[in-house]
Amino acid sequence: MNLLSEEIEAYAALFTEDESPVLAELNRETQAHIIQPRMLSGHLQGRLLSLFSKLVKPKLILEIGSFTGYSALCLAEGLQPDGLLHTIDIDEERETIITKYIKKAQAENKICLHIGDANSIIPKIKGTFDLVFIDADKVNYINYFNLVANRINAGGLIIADNVLWSGNVLKPINQQDEETQILTRYVRLVKNDKRFQSVLLPIRDGLMIAFKR
Ligand SMILES: C[S@@+](CC[C@H](N)C(=O)[O-])C[C@H]1O[C@@H](n2cnc3c(N)ncnc32)[C@H](O)[C@@H]1O
Repeated sequence: MNLLSEEIEAYAALFTEDESPVLAELNRETQAHIIQPRMLSGHLQGRLLSLFSKLVKPKLILEIGSFTGYSALCLAEGLQPDGLLHTIDIDEERETIITKYIKKAQAENKICLHIGDANSIIPKIKGTFDLVFIDADKVNYINYFNLVANRINAGGLIIADNVLWSGNVLKPINQQDEETQILTRYVRLVKNDKRFQSVLLPIRDGLMIAFKR
């Protein structure tokens, strides 16, 4: 999943702001006790998400795919004092660890967790977003983009994770491999959408940043 060499990633992390004690603890607990811990954004990407959020100063954030809550806590760092982050995960087993760390980070008033399928929950969340982080099931990336593209304020961002999909996007794509097919269609769709200015950042597994003009 990580396309940077371990040495480069370690060097970059060395000269990147440290994780807070709560984020470091959540990272460790996820690595030790949760299946597929590599899904967690991690130190470097987490600090980048925090920085994007601080630049945008969002009032409303939507995160699709909470996992253990690491990226939600990073993104929430940039919220305006009265801002709110909605995070959605389909897996109800995530609820205990997410709520534990929201509490440890004293972010109870900033983060609202929804358990269920993002496709049905997103239309029920009211308001327009300043930042959306798409990081759930890859086959729904285009659906998620279409659900939020008209609900992003000018100057806002849609950030999508894993768009390089371990480099599989460069290989011949198997007809059965719906995830890679959708991810390659996603980056074309976003790049060609004149409402957005896009950059594909080759950090970790690839982040597609779309800025709403
Ligand atoms: C890559 S992980 C998210 C990682 C997290 N954003 C982070 O950076 O720490 C993807 C998550 O999406 C969730 N997910 C998959 N399909 C979903 C769906 N249809 N609706 C909501 N969540 C979904 C999975 O349960 C999983 O926890």
